[in-house]
Amino acid sequence: MSHANVFVKLGGSFITDKAVAESLNGPRIIVAARMLRKAMDQAARRGRRIQLVLGHGAGSYGHIQAKKYGAVAGVHPRHGWEGLHRIRESMARMNLLFIQYCHKGGLYPVTVSPFAVAAAADGFVRRLDVHNIKALLDRGQIPLIHGDVIPDAKRGFTIASTEALLEALSRRIRFDRIVMVSDTDGVLGHDGRTIPLIHRRNIKTHAGAIRGSGAPDVTGGMRRKVEKLFALLGGGRAGSARILRCAKDAQNLYEAVLGIGGGGTLLKP
Ligand SMILES: Nc1ncnc2c1ncn2[C@@H]1O[C@H](COP(=O)(O)OP(=O)(O)OP(=O)(O)O)[C@@H](O)[C@H]1O
Ligand SMILES: [Mg+2]
Repeated sequence: MSHANVFVKLGGSFITDKAVAESLNGPRIIVAARMLRKAMDQAARRGRRIQLVLGHGAGSYGHIQAKKYGAVAGVHPRHGWEGLHRIRESMARMNLLFIQYCHKGGLYPVTVSPFAVAAAADGFVRRLDVHNIKALLDRGQIPLIHGDVIPDAKRGFTIASTEALLEALSRRIRFDRIVMVSDTDGVLGHDGRTIPLIHRRNIKTHAGAIRGSGAPDVTGGMRRKVEKLFALLGGGRAGSARILRCAKDAQNLYEAVLGIGGGGTLLKP
């Protein structure tokens, strides 16, 4: 049976209220999990298995604390390593809850903790051990990563967004499709409307409208997301990427995972 590699991130903006500390939206995760399961089952029935790598953002778990402790810069002059301890504890709790909600939706992802397998140098993810991720994929399992604090050779530690980890992962695994679930209907242009398609030739027109996050966010919001996705697409390390807002029934997420639609913004090289 042939297969397609698909990466799906359920963004922190979708699964939490980023303005309210530690506010996880369980029902949204359950519905999304159910539709991911359905998409995988449907693909398998058609003889084209989906190898899914799942990611979740930190939302109001990681970002608020990361901001408080200046954790992108690593060891703090006053707080020392406290940022690392607090953010790790918070992400571990979030991740456990996330998995429990996935189970309720019939999806059984397995966390590969970024802190244990990734390393940065001066803020950039330089190393990602993909052995366990590949081993899970080969056996039909769903590896799960998330935005996290990771070791940094210069700073002691730093923050790695799901997108930065995806970039490192893509050096070893080529994704046919990337789907990013956000709280906006994809990428919005100057007029506030969804830009249906962004590619090399029209990116400049829209660039000014794509900014950081309106909420506490230490990893660059929509702008950095689009930049990172373009770097992957341009380098041929991903086929296409879609940023979307998940519908209440997550039907559009199902379609995006299968590569048959989904709305929002499609990014192509
Ligand atoms: N042109 C734009 N279109 C859409 N969103 C934009 C745009 N410019 C800035 N944004 C902001 O980017 C946010 C999405 O990025 P953000 O990093 O907050 O979400 P996320 O990646 O889902 O969360 P997390 O980083 O916690 O996983 C939107 O909620 C919006 O505030
Ligand atoms: Mg983000």
